[in-house]
Amino acid sequence: MMEQKKRIYLDYAASTPMDERVIQIMLPYFAQIFGNSSSVHFGGQAAEAAIEQARKTIAGLINADPEEIIFTSGGTESDNLAIKGVAFARRRDKGCNHLLISPVEHPAVLQSARQLSEVFGFEIEYLPVDSFGRVDPSEVAVRLRPDTALVSVIYGNNEIGTINDIASIGNLCRAKGIPFHTDAVQAAAHLPIDVVRESIDLLSIGSHKFYGPKGVGVLYVRKGIHILPMITGGAHENNLRAGTHNTPYIVGLAEAFRLTQTELAQRSACMTLIRDMLIKGVLEKVSGAHLTGHPSERLPNHASFVFEGVDGNTLLMMLDVAGFACSSGSACKSGTPKPSEVLLAIGLSPGLALGSLRVTLGVDTSEEDIQSFLGVLPSLVEKCRSLC
Ligand SMILES: Cc1ncc(COP(=O)(O)O)c(C=O)c1O
Repeated sequence: MMEQKKRIYLDYAASTPMDERVIQIMLPYFAQIFGNSSSVHFGGQAAEAAIEQARKTIAGLINADPEEIIFTSGGTESDNLAIKGVAFARRRDKGCNHLLISPVEHPAVLQSARQLSEVFGFEIEYLPVDSFGRVDPSEVAVRLRPDTALVSVIYGNNEIGTINDIASIGNLCRAKGIPFHTDAVQAAAHLPIDVVRESIDLLSIGSHKFYGPKGVGVLYVRKGIHILPMITGGAHENNLRAGTHNTPYIVGLAEAFRLTQTELAQRSACMTLIRDMLIKGVLEKVSGAHLTGHPSERLPNHASFVFEGVDGNTLLMMLDVAGFACSSGSACKSGTPKPSEVLLAIGLSPGLALGSLRVTLGVDTSEEDIQSFLGVLPSLVEKCRSLC
């Protein structure tokens, strides 16, 4: 019998496996407590009680009020609702037309802003970022205008792992009364979040990045911030997001987030050690390798590189054949030969940006996994170079 080759998953920023404890908590809500949360009878009441408990749990974890939590279909919808919802409301209420966003946002933010600009005539201004992809808060301060509808800066970057100084940017926006959104889809899996301390007005979360189900997320909207709904219909979610609640997924999201936030310190300490071993190993063993993103102010599970003279997608395929699942830049872009916008925004040449590799760790990643990875990477990079 041929021995089965071990497969090692190193793409936890793209998605995570569900936590068994989360699956167990969700199960009764598929076939036993299945009522529509809007129904008045006992079946509806039971579903509604579960949803309201989930809302309370999530609110408590980020220092929000339960009424400030809106359930969505995931990070992408949360970002869309935040950007478009606020832009349209601020235009209607105050005539605001100016969007201030970083150029290293996830496409869910970038494309939402671009649609607002191309179809609805909003003006987009991109904040400068340094070579690590960080936004300097003082650059935000000088660009805030009376007609600024919204500022959006990503919390923890999905492609390069860099963490932004969200609290300072939030404080500046708050002082001028301008709504501040942050995409915390990656950060929520690894960092404590306090929307009061960090002066956040809107915050996006997606459950499948922290061992919860796919297709469910949260948008936190601070009381007093007006948004127009993007999905209209019934009065769900305080009239801000219509549609029958997905009770099992909402219950699963809350439990996954609770477990993640409770186990954060321990998970982060383990992953940081392994991540740093990985980064050191790659930079030492692979010639022409460069780390992308900040060396220390980065997500604890995140390592990302560019390799000179390498096609990132070819390298990804070779790694896959060798049994390693990684990513090149954002998961949404894998397979597209265009260089990542994020890597260009931090000043890399298009050629170098095409040689990117993202390796992201999870709670199950071991030192041995990383040693195996380091055992094959240098020769695969050389093989890739020989093909160019
Ligand atoms: C930073 C960031 N924002 C938004 C999203 C989209 O989230 P979802 O997959 O839940 O739609 C992702 C997913 O990769 C992400 O990393």
